[in-house]
Amino acid sequence: MLIKPLIILDTHYQELNNDGEDVIQGLSQNPKSLPPKYFYDENGSKLFEQICQLPEYYPTRTEAWILSQYADEIAQITGSCELVELGSGSSTKTRILLDTYQKIADSSRYIPIDISGGILKTSVLQLQQEYPDFSIQGLLGTYEQALAHLKSNSSQTRMIFFLGSSIGNFTLQESNRFFSQIAHALKPGDYFLLGIDLQKAKEILEAAYNDSQGVTAAFNLNMLSHLNWRFQGDFNLNFFTHQAIYNEAENQIEMYLHCQENHWVSLDILNFKVSFQAGESILTEISRKFDLAIIQKQLEAQGLKPLKTWTDSQKWFGLILCQAQ
Ligand code: AVI
Repeated sequence: MLIKPLIILDTHYQELNNDGEDVIQGLSQNPKSLPPKYFYDENGSKLFEQICQLPEYYPTRTEAWILSQYADEIAQITGSCELVELGSGSSTKTRILLDTYQKIADSSRYIPIDISGGILKTSVLQLQQEYPDFSIQGLLGTYEQALAHLKSNSSQTRMIFFLGSSIGNFTLQESNRFFSQIAHALKPGDYFLLGIDLQKAKEILEAAYNDSQGVTAAFNLNMLSHLNWRFQGDFNLNFFTHQAIYNEAENQIEMYLHCQENHWVSLDILNFKVSFQAGESILTEISRKFDLAIIQKQLEAQGLKPLKTWTDSQKWFGLILCQAQ
């Protein structure tokens, strides 16, 4: 019998997060910025899935390759455990882990966490059919809400996994806070598996975020359509172009929407009007690229002790398995 697919952590989530204060704040700053969470409306999530398949966007396939090579070894270290996934992740990668853990236990729990209800429900219903021996229940909410809900409430060994180098979209400060929340949701001896994109040549990185088919450009511009729809805005997408550059000093890709015309934009629901000058840019995302030794130290400082690291032969991507202390 199927269990209820979702636990909704905060029924007011939708309304609470519709207030757009963060949009007003970001667009009132100089230079302007917008939170990357606004990439992910339905169209944005589809475009992101397409990005993951692009020839230039190596992170998804490289991480999937590492997982397929080493999932058995990871499972041997952790033994049978409750699997908690942060972010929707690519289902291919989830399946590699579920297939592996299915082999070492008769029954287990898988808890995916996401803020996008539609995608989460569809994937939970599908995985419930494919993995009848797993008890699968999604948590709908922010990472913060989900990690607070999960706080050491399981007697079983737990492994939280956070793949795709989504940690790269957090600032250093945000990532420290996030690791500390992870550590609080684990008991000593539990595990955390983290996927990280490693530092590499600027040309490879810039190609990955400036693909030849223009999918990343469409993904970036879609944020403005999302804001138009969500806050009754009048952004003219023709006035902006996609830009992604690698900032070598900060070791991060920076994605911008570069403005081509002097104009005003209104967001009626927010009762907000903002002027744009030709030549100015909105920062929509950072994607940090990591040095293994540095991030290992950062994890350890938050009580997540790195046990083992795996990479591909080019050392483009890394997987770190940590144990909560
Ligand atoms: C979700 N995140 C890890 C992606 C990244 O590579 O930083 C988002 C992305 N932005 C443009 N392409 C992909």
